[in-house]
Amino acid sequence: MTIENTRVADHPINRIFLDRWSPRAFDGSAISEEELLTILEAARWAPSSYNSQPWRFLYARRDNAHWDKFLGLLNEFNQSWAKLGSAIVFVVSETTMLPPGKDQRVPAYSHSFDAGAAWGYMALQAAMSGWYCHGMVGIEMDRIRTELNVPADCRIEAGIAIGKLGPITQLPDFLQAREAPSPRKPLAETAFEGGFPS
Ligand SMILES: Cc1cc2nc3c(=O)[nH]c(=O)nc-3n(C[C@H](O)[C@H](O)[C@H](O)COP(=O)(O)O)c2cc1C
Repeated sequence: MTIENTRVADHPINRIFLDRWSPRAFDGSAISEEELLTILEAARWAPSSYNSQPWRFLYARRDNAHWDKFLGLLNEFNQSWAKLGSAIVFVVSETTMLPPGKDQRVPAYSHSFDAGAAWGYMALQAAMSGWYCHGMVGIEMDRIRTELNVPADCRIEAGIAIGKLGPITQLPDFLQAREAPSPRKPLAETAFEGGFPS
């Protein structure tokens, strides 16, 4: 079954922004390390405050040594569909940074903002390469920290399941009903010339 993408932009944008979406019905394809590194390479080129590049990516590919462990670090709901994904990535960000010319680390104001930009780049590169990314906050933060050796000054931001589209009939009915690119609020609700309306 082909999934219809009814998204329409109100202003002209590149088609890739509408074509990127977050499916849950994956097909269990393998992904090569090269293909995954291309997706992470795009994230590498995201901008960040002071070019501090606070993002860190912890990844496992399907059928490889770390897959079962990474899948087990998602909550039960996310495991139920991400088990047919091709890779799982945890995005972590460093909450402190070394300002240029300084020898002491200071709190990084924008570490999550910067890591978010990197995730956006990842998702778009994946879409351009024929893959789909699905962000997840339904992950076991405490276990990820201990089991994946995440340093104390890092924030665990989110997990990302990456995969290729599979048949939606594998999903329970309530998820089949949601398996389509979602709409957005109109820009008028989120962008204000000159400040918030008083
Ligand atoms: C940071 C983040 C966390 C998310 N967490 C989950 C999650 O735990 N489980 C899930 O099924 N979807 C999750 N989503 C998917 C969002 O619900 C989805 O991106 C949103 O509805 C917009 O749909 P689209 O990505 O298809 O455009 C998450 C997305 C992001 C960006």
